[in-house]
Amino acid sequence: MAVATASKPTDPKHNIEAMREAYYERISKYDMAPLWKVMKSVVTKEPVTHGVPAIWRFQDAKALVLESGPLITAEEAERRVLILENPAMRGQSKITNSMFAGIQMILPGEVAPAHRHVSSAIRFVLDGKGAYTAVEGEKTIMAPGDFVITSNWAPHDHGNDSNEPMMWLDVLDFPMVNFFETSFAEHFDAATQATSRGDGDSLAFYGSGVLPDSVPDRRGASPVINYTYARTRPIVERMKKAGDIDKRHGARVRYVNPVTGGPVLPTMGANLALLPEGFKGEPYRATDGTVFVCVEGKGTTKVGDKTLEWGPNDVFVVPPWQRYSHQASKESVLFSISDRPAQEALGIWREEH
Ligand SMILES: [Fe+2]
Repeated sequence: MAVATASKPTDPKHNIEAMREAYYERISKYDMAPLWKVMKSVVTKEPVTHGVPAIWRFQDAKALVLESGPLITAEEAERRVLILENPAMRGQSKITNSMFAGIQMILPGEVAPAHRHVSSAIRFVLDGKGAYTAVEGEKTIMAPGDFVITSNWAPHDHGNDSNEPMMWLDVLDFPMVNFFETSFAEHFDAATQATSRGDGDSLAFYGSGVLPDSVPDRRGASPVINYTYARTRPIVERMKKAGDIDKRHGARVRYVNPVTGGPVLPTMGANLALLPEGFKGEPYRATDGTVFVCVEGKGTTKVGDKTLEWGPNDVFVVPPWQRYSHQASKESVLFSISDRPAQEALGIWREEH
């Protein structure tokens, strides 16, 4: 004999559930859906990140990147880059939801051919000396710690006339560009571009507290293409000596567009910070996910309940709205880059300390 259940057809609760399900199915055929079923997951009370904190040790990365040398040439690859994928976002070519990061290598005698794209890129030089990046007619010889920008639609190529492999961190905003579905790219017939200016011209012209009458329009990006470590490092040293040390970030400068005083690129901004020996930073969080490079020194960064131990050339990522604090066991320099300018332009950037 059948046993009556709580959900018998006459139950009004059963009826409304069944009616709702039938309704959802019907509206689905018209490509419509009820907001009230997803409201809490699309309008969250606090930022929700898909990424996790992670570190890539240079010792491992360098060996793995070197292995790719005999496998593919820079010209065949167009760019010989190993992507640093956030472990929680594998297969998406992202280190945070809005930024790509990778380690690029160029071997002696190689050329990475000229191209341009809407995505802006930065290079932060890790290892080697003497390779160049040419950007809009200026060839800049790169050294460790140099911060090179190639802005939206700027033609660029890389070459290595030295006798050692050269490696740098590439960070691009193409996840943002692709979110808006606005990517364009173009390749040139010639592998390298003709130079029309001398190495260091842009830094001398635009980064010296004076500006020539003819500043090029770079769609809001800085006209300086290489902010050299040789120029920036002594400034954070001087700040340390002056006692200008932020409790969370250390003696820190931001790289600026000298024409506007704003960030170097409309989408991404970068900083260089010196953490004195024994520095114990106060906790901080902000809505921009940040990629850090240890340029010098040794220390740890606590992110939530995870501790990342870093040394020279290690790259690590702190996802958005994760509380973090830096500790330096010896004097250290950290480079960092994030999507803060894009968030500020949209009025959605927040911080808490
Ligand atoms: Fe490129």
